[in-house]
Amino acid sequence: MIPPSPASVPEASLPTADRSLFHIISPKQFSRPLLDELCELTTAARTLAKSRHGARALQMLLADKRAMLYFSQPSTRTFLSFNNACHILGIRTSEIRNASTSSEVKGETVEDSIRTFSSYVDVIIMRSWEQGLAERAAEHMNSIPRPVPIVNAGSGKDHHPTQALLDIYTLDRSFSDRGGIDGKTIGLMGDLLRGRTARSLAYLMKNYSDVRLVFIAPSGFEMQDDIKSHLDEHKVEWYDTDQLEEVLPDLDAVYVTRIQTEWDDPDSPVQVDYSKFQIGLEQVKSMRSDAAIMHPLPRGPELHPAVDADPRAMYWRQERNGMWMRVAALLKTFGVDDQFRSIYQDHNIG
Ligand code: NCD
Repeated sequence: MIPPSPASVPEASLPTADRSLFHIISPKQFSRPLLDELCELTTAARTLAKSRHGARALQMLLADKRAMLYFSQPSTRTFLSFNNACHILGIRTSEIRNASTSSEVKGETVEDSIRTFSSYVDVIIMRSWEQGLAERAAEHMNSIPRPVPIVNAGSGKDHHPTQALLDIYTLDRSFSDRGGIDGKTIGLMGDLLRGRTARSLAYLMKNYSDVRLVFIAPSGFEMQDDIKSHLDEHKVEWYDTDQLEEVLPDLDAVYVTRIQTEWDDPDSPVQVDYSKFQIGLEQVKSMRSDAAIMHPLPRGPELHPAVDADPRAMYWRQERNGMWMRVAALLKTFGVDDQFRSIYQDHNIG
């Protein structure tokens, strides 16, 4: 059983809403008003795109812009959803998906590479193996005459802010008839030590009131202290367990993640018995009938494909939500959200 929640702490001390975005680097940038606004923009954009007229209007919004997708670490969903989000808004895209085909192999610094991209495009969306690289790129941009926004599409083991945004959107929608995310108990399971999606999502939870986080991980793979202290500072209740069966019936959502074996030392791969950290039909039986089962994907053995047919499985929706949330994030980054709103109103929806 999950221990009872302490007396609720109202989130009256939320920072004054700064709802502008230029670079998107870290979950630290997101206040509750900004998260709520992004969710609202996401729904509005996908609604507008349903009509051919609306889709055309969206495509004109940023038709004068170009984006660089600079992904030196593998990606399927994040790459494709950003690529398609750009196209929805009329942004033309170019890409580097393999650093060995760029001048980095000739010894060009990341700073010089990024500055070069900025000569040709209006936004750089980047994923890298290196923690903090997107932040470094943004700092560099801030020091040059024609800075373009940097969007972090995953930085090492550190953070994946736009994944966390789409996860928030999915949770919010899953709980839309139950008061949203506030007051919910959310389990994060798997490789919490090296999984950037779980780290970023846990970080954002400080924006919601009375949320309880249950970190379900094998010994040695627990959520790191930087996130835990941040949650403590913001009075978000959390606790660690390795007993999935015990906590599962109490969870409003379980966020399943895979073991991030790509970070293992090839000479001594980590040996862990992961069999107790899997969701299959048996586990799903003990979950609440209105629970949400999430996964950033790709999955491994931790989430059985038989679960896909269960109405509580949200991960395929998560993928699609990701494209629309990235449309919303780009609207903010280019500061065309108000323009978007008037187009939306002109189309007489809602
Ligand atoms: C995640 C990532 O790259 O961090 N995937 C994604 O972006 N949807 C999760 C993972 O690889 O486990």
